[in-house]
Amino acid sequence: MPSNRSITRIITQNRVWQSIFRQGYPDTDENQSKAITNSWFLHIHPVRVKTHTLKISYTWGLGVISFYLLVVLLVTGIWLMFYYAPSVERAYTDIQNLETSVTFGMLMRNMHRWAAHLMVLTVFLHMCRVFWTGGHKHPREFNWVVGVMLWLLTLLLSYTGYLLPWDQLAYWAVTVGTNMIGTTPLIGEQSRLILVGALETGPEALVRFYALHIFALFLPMIILVGVHFWRIRKDGGLSSPLASTDEPPEGGVK
Ligand code: HEM
Repeated sequence: MPSNRSITRIITQNRVWQSIFRQGYPDTDENQSKAITNSWFLHIHPVRVKTHTLKISYTWGLGVISFYLLVVLLVTGIWLMFYYAPSVERAYTDIQNLETSVTFGMLMRNMHRWAAHLMVLTVFLHMCRVFWTGGHKHPREFNWVVGVMLWLLTLLLSYTGYLLPWDQLAYWAVTVGTNMIGTTPLIGEQSRLILVGALETGPEALVRFYALHIFALFLPMIILVGVHFWRIRKDGGLSSPLASTDEPPEGGVK
């Protein structure tokens, strides 16, 4: 019967293992620290954190919840794309079919809808929390600006998704919204035309809203979330309230 140590040695000397992991099995201090720096997944976590930022009452987990909702939206959104075509002939019936005959269709559609509603709420509350704890101040101003863009993208994604079921509610909500854009001084009518693609809400608007929803707004959202997380690390982790003396000690997690 081979011992645990010899099994470990066999695994870590295996070519497949070595092509993925650049260090030996993480059972020594050196290999453990290499495992962190060599892995993208582990590397995105900071080596040291301030203890007060781990308290649920500091962040309320609102940023992380917003991120998980975004993941739910991505997964269910890709799933919905298999059953939905953005044409005036099909959009409405595709949604009816999802509700009545597609396996898990109602579940997926409603998860997508609820995650979208909830995300508007959690991103807004996250923004309030950041402001409340002074997280928008130096050196985090840039990340605050990235956050404002994320907030606008969250709202625009909700708005463009609203038209896609192509029912009365969607049609008139989008008609009213785009007419409001049309009343903006100087650039209003041109902006409305670019968005709707015709004189009134119709097939052109449906295709444009779909393209914005699944690609032109979603891609920047994913990229900016990446920038947002990267900046949190580069700005030295989460903010500390002014009175906090809660700095991590040299050399380890507090
Ligand atoms: C898609 C939307 C967003 C996601 C997924 C997201 C995610 C996160 C996460 C996970 C954190 C770590 C702390 C925490 O969980 O609270 C964080 C921090 C932060 N977020 Fe967001 N966020 C989003 C939108 C926003 C918005 C709208 C703003 C502001 C306008 C913002 C500004 C910030 C700032 C400045 C920090 C650092 C806060 C600190 O150091 O205390 N974020 N974000």
